[in-house]
Amino acid sequence: MTSYSTPDAHQHKLYRELDMSPSASKILFDSVEISLGKRLVVKDISFRLKEHELLCIVGPSGCGKTTLLRAVAGLTSVRRGRILLDGIAITRPTPQIAMVFQHFGLFPWKTVRANIEYGLSVQGRRFGNEEIVTHLLEVMGLEDYGHCYPYELSGGMQQRVGIARALAIQPEVILLDEPFSAVDAITREMLQGELISLWENQQRRKTTAILVTHDIDEAILLGDRILVLCGSPGQVRLELDVKIPRPRTPQAIRDYPAYSQLRRQIWEALHA
Ligand SMILES: Nc1ncnc2c1ncn2[C@@H]1O[C@H](COP(=O)(O)OP(=O)(O)OP(=O)(O)O)[C@@H](O)[C@H]1O
Ligand SMILES: [Mg+2]
Repeated sequence: MTSYSTPDAHQHKLYRELDMSPSASKILFDSVEISLGKRLVVKDISFRLKEHELLCIVGPSGCGKTTLLRAVAGLTSVRRGRILLDGIAITRPTPQIAMVFQHFGLFPWKTVRANIEYGLSVQGRRFGNEEIVTHLLEVMGLEDYGHCYPYELSGGMQQRVGIARALAIQPEVILLDEPFSAVDAITREMLQGELISLWENQQRRKTTAILVTHDIDEAILLGDRILVLCGSPGQVRLELDVKIPRPRTPQAIRDYPAYSQLRRQIWEALHA
């Protein structure tokens, strides 16, 4: 059920102090605490994401990164605090938000084309689906693989199908959970490049994104902002802007003095 939030006086004061008014944010985490079973997984998580921003969350295994994304996707409920989308609490999955899962999450019994079309059919869209899917197959370099099943594709190709499936529904927010972790280094660099050009050319004006990664360089390459999550329960240890101009490439970003400084700050936060 979508519930409309009515922040109380205390929250209004907090929002003013932190410049975190719901209207100024696409996504707002307000003192979020999440438990899974009896385990407190993350606590005291507050941050905001402006429209069209790409936020990277970096953190060690088990600190709650996937849990946070699942909560944004409306798949996990919060125990305390709120996660707001355009000022409205997220309490269940919505077509405005799409998630690309850590381990692809494709339907093995559906072809590539049918996997990408899935979200559109769930939305009840019956017209124009074929054109949208054909366009995304081209964008992701999969035009010859529409009829294949996921097991016939490499890891990198399966991940591209996962990204295409998320983009098909033209979400306002896309959540990417370690989208390149299961592929080799060369494929990873290629997919990062594809995401960058997709983001900078097409999606940037339309979509807000959260991308989870273990990789500091990937976060600096892709993010407008970086959040370092650490500990158990996971908490925000550091929040940084990436002031390196776009377009970015893995080689070019290293020439900016900001790069080594950011890298050191994130490394130290992760190892504190
Ligand atoms: N269903 C569950 N019940 C209880 N605890 C869980 C459940 N799912 C995950 N956890 C615990 O929650 C914590 C956070 O898990 P999560 O998957 O969010 O971590 P992560 O940061 O994404 O890790 P990784 O980098 O390995 O993907 C872990 O310690 C995990 O053991
Ligand atoms: Mg995870």
